[in-house]
Amino acid sequence: MAVMAVIGGQWGDEGKGRVVDLLAEKVDMVVRFSGGDNAGHTVIGPYGEFGLHLVPSGIFYPQVTCIIGNGVAINPANLLGEINELQRHGVDTSRLVISDRAHLIMPYHTLLDGLEEERRGGKALGTTRRGIGPVFADKVARLGIRAGDLLDKDALYSRLKSTLELKNAILTKVYLVSPLSLEEIYEQYCRYGERLAPYIRETTDMLHEALRKGNLILLEGAQGTLLDPDFGTYPYVTSSSPLAGSSSLGTGIGPMQISHVVGVFKAYTTRVGSGPMPTELRDEVGELIREKAHEYGATTGRPRRCGWFDAVASRFSVQVNGLSEIALTHLDIFDAFPSVKICTAYRLGDKVLDRFPANVGVLEKCQPIYEELAGWRGPIGEIRHFDELPIEARHYVARLEEITCCPVGLISVGPKREQVIKAKSMLPQ
Ligand code: IMO
Ligand code: MG
Repeated sequence: MAVMAVIGGQWGDEGKGRVVDLLAEKVDMVVRFSGGDNAGHTVIGPYGEFGLHLVPSGIFYPQVTCIIGNGVAINPANLLGEINELQRHGVDTSRLVISDRAHLIMPYHTLLDGLEEERRGGKALGTTRRGIGPVFADKVARLGIRAGDLLDKDALYSRLKSTLELKNAILTKVYLVSPLSLEEIYEQYCRYGERLAPYIRETTDMLHEALRKGNLILLEGAQGTLLDPDFGTYPYVTSSSPLAGSSSLGTGIGPMQISHVVGVFKAYTTRVGSGPMPTELRDEVGELIREKAHEYGATTGRPRRCGWFDAVASRFSVQVNGLSEIALTHLDIFDAFPSVKICTAYRLGDKVLDRFPANVGVLEKCQPIYEELAGWRGPIGEIRHFDELPIEARHYVARLEEITCCPVGLISVGPKREQVIKAKSMLPQ
């Protein structure tokens, strides 16, 4: 297997950083392919705990080249901050590479993200306010500024000048706020350019050269399938695709070359921001999950909405990503729960739905239909073999496999690297 993609199967925060960190031990390259610093990937390893936003989660291994792919939107200030923080803890960042095609988040993107949210009022999407919607809108509107533009100051100036004229007209005439200064942004981005220049290069050739040499490449997703602009709970979604298909577009590796797709799922469901979530628990059980698993956003610190595993949404996610297997995280959170529930279908009026609806208006009206399984009441954090798990935990995993139509290859039973069970994994051993 030369190329595998690791993607989020739910509404983000599934533990992609943890799974990528685990699998990166055996690979030569890790490439982030979508999103921006709206992502927060937590990795706990020999250097301590890090919340990575842009740097790929393979950075802690000395043999891994880490690429920020063309599909990612980069906030240069935040990336430089992240690089500094890693270096301060002794992590070698010399193997970091930035695609010259990656789009840059500019000050007007973050500003407009906030203004657009305020304009939406009660219908706000609950974005991370990192400028993600505006930067990807500009990418397809052909107004974007890319990492490669930082290497040519004249080109940067002329692109910025024409785009900023339009952005300032919107800021002053639509939102009635002060315009931004061309000179200030230009000088600021020239400084970022000087510091980031050693990392910026053409990356597609580099990836294909690695493939020719038989290197193993891991494509790291951000966000989750249900936040996808096409297949997610539109309009309560992000603005770049978190799907496996996007791992091809966001790196320049053809779909036929991706041999394995791992979908990361929590043993339960969480969501941050607005939008429907049929299994959300607004009671003490939801609260218990949040406190036990410390379900607070790695990027914004917001409390995450928590609920039971939604197998209707997850089955859909297995389909649209063509998953080879599931990596199931946080199974240990259910230790000591007397019982656990799985949502197997939705009730909509007098109908029963077993498919995930496209329309959020419909999804908002869906009531979960649960199947209840016995809990396992004891700690599983020290267990390393599937067969040693309590029978109830094995039943829970087996039922998830059956109902999502996808094998569970990997189970995380705690935050530390070694707290993992490789079940029927097809991954490199
Ligand atoms: P990781 O990679 C969870 C959510 C936001 C909001 C919506 C749109 O850590 O799984 P945006 O700022 O992208 O325009 O916000 O998407 N969101 C995430 N939720 N995990 C993430 O990333 C997310 N990135 C964005 O909360 O609801
Ligand atoms: Mg996260």
